[in-house]
Amino acid sequence: MTPEELIAAARKAQNNSYSPYSQFKVGAALLTDGGNIYTGVNVENASFGLTVCAERVAIFNAISNGEKDFSAIAITGDHKGYTYPCGACLQVLAEFSPQIKILLTDENDNYQEYYLKDLLPQLFSLENQEVNI
Ligand code: THU
Repeated sequence: MTPEELIAAARKAQNNSYSPYSQFKVGAALLTDGGNIYTGVNVENASFGLTVCAERVAIFNAISNGEKDFSAIAITGDHKGYTYPCGACLQVLAEFSPQIKILLTDENDNYQEYYLKDLLPQLFSLENQEVNI
């Protein structure tokens, strides 16, 4: 699987984005350790706070299909410049694959490669908390 192939899958999914309120289409394609791809798009709602990002939809799609180990995720958007994942999506990705590679693309499919820890250096983990206060 090349980065270009994963990006193409995210770009294709992006067409199905339901984003009438922001007019910002986002697509995500998640690659499993076994080589399968699960995609997601942002799904908005008239009650704005119920919107779910493309990345989380892709993760939930994969989890629903029994997959938990991911090596990469590609993210595309229909605006100019690179589309960055939000903090909430990074936290959800970290739950399953803290080592995951993240491919960010611009409108011309140029891509930048990050590791999750580059974008979310201090993730929330129950193991890091003192629970007995
Ligand atoms: N969005 C995503 O799908 N992923 C992100 O990481 C950031 C934002 C969506 C949510 C909303 O539908 C639109 O982009 C504008 O914020």
